[in-house]
Amino acid sequence: MATRSDRSDILERGPRPSRHIAGLTPYDAVSSLEKMAAVPPDFPPLKLDWNESTVPPSPGVVRAIMEFLGDSHPLNWYPDLRADALRKGLERTTGVPAEGILVTNGSDAALDLVCRTYLDPGDEVVVASPTYGHFLVFAAARGVTPVEVQAASPFAVPTGALLDRLRTTTQLLYLASPNNPTGVVTPAEDVARLCRTFPSTLVIVDEAYHEFCGETCAPLVRTLPNLVVTRTFSKCFSIAGLRVGYLLAGEGVMRELLKLHNPKSVNAVGQVAALAALQDREFRETYVAEVRAAREALVAALRARGAEARSTRANFALVRVADPAGLVRALETVGVFVRDRSHIRGFEGYVRITVGTRAQMAEVVRRIDRLLETRPDLLAPPPG
Ligand SMILES: Cc1ncc(COP(=O)(O)O)c(C=O)c1O
Repeated sequence: MATRSDRSDILERGPRPSRHIAGLTPYDAVSSLEKMAAVPPDFPPLKLDWNESTVPPSPGVVRAIMEFLGDSHPLNWYPDLRADALRKGLERTTGVPAEGILVTNGSDAALDLVCRTYLDPGDEVVVASPTYGHFLVFAAARGVTPVEVQAASPFAVPTGALLDRLRTTTQLLYLASPNNPTGVVTPAEDVARLCRTFPSTLVIVDEAYHEFCGETCAPLVRTLPNLVVTRTFSKCFSIAGLRVGYLLAGEGVMRELLKLHNPKSVNAVGQVAALAALQDREFRETYVAEVRAAREALVAALRARGAEARSTRANFALVRVADPAGLVRALETVGVFVRDRSHIRGFEGYVRITVGTRAQMAEVVRRIDRLLETRPDLLAPPPG
């Protein structure tokens, strides 16, 4: 029985969070949205920090949303619990049968669902590092500290290093392809080899950026029972604000995931918009081609100015500089918002720039040129 002093301790302390959560620090979710309002009017803001699309969605998406809102009961009822229309559309584009597709509230929710379904405290989780930070949070919330495996260089395909490190007891492997922040693509045959060599490990391949590189592991989920592929409508489909993603998985994994999945979690407007975005193939292909051309033009322009710039196979480019925080701050003064990734181990000096259209990237270069007039060392690589 609690004594009087125990009780006053408890009252003072207040509710106790789960012991897996108590030690976490909030996810570093620093978006430039608030800062954008303060930009001088002569520099229309260029939001290039979160790898979102830089253009509004296809006109077909807006039309579909308006038509939906004109119906008699668009918002007072819960959404289609199985997102059937969207899953049918995805069946056609992915080649995976609708039963193997689960639509989620952004692909973050897919990653979180897999962690909640498959992880117990102390399980071994391996990630190909450096990687997407939010996955580490979902694992940490399950009481797991992932083992971060890095190849000889952050830009090398991690397959060899992963094969060396994985064990038959590893519960889960996470890799993003193309990877964020490196852009590295792990070929589908490597993923198949990892899955076959470690059949008791659940392998998640995060394909948030796959449309920009054209490679995918999606067809493998039909034959590899330990593979999950996650995807999103937040990047080339231009509807990050509506939060729609999905995962592809075989029958056994899907059965487990459905035990925890909240069928009300994908909003009705998002479902309608995602289907319309999926159907406008020409819009998507044009944007992807535009981003690829703009990425190469940006990298060439940065190199011409003495920068150590790298292209990737996703919608972002990288630049390694002596003063990454200084570069990010300077760009903010001219309305360009990019992301400092230099705190990541093995990724020191790197700043990530989301790539949009050629016109937008040309504007970025023009603003960089203005900064270089007073700070000629702005793009200088680190010494040595
Ligand atoms: C590798 C990776 N996975 C997942 C996400 C999250 O995407 P969503 O908007 O679908 O939650 C991101 C977002 O930047 C990402 O970079």
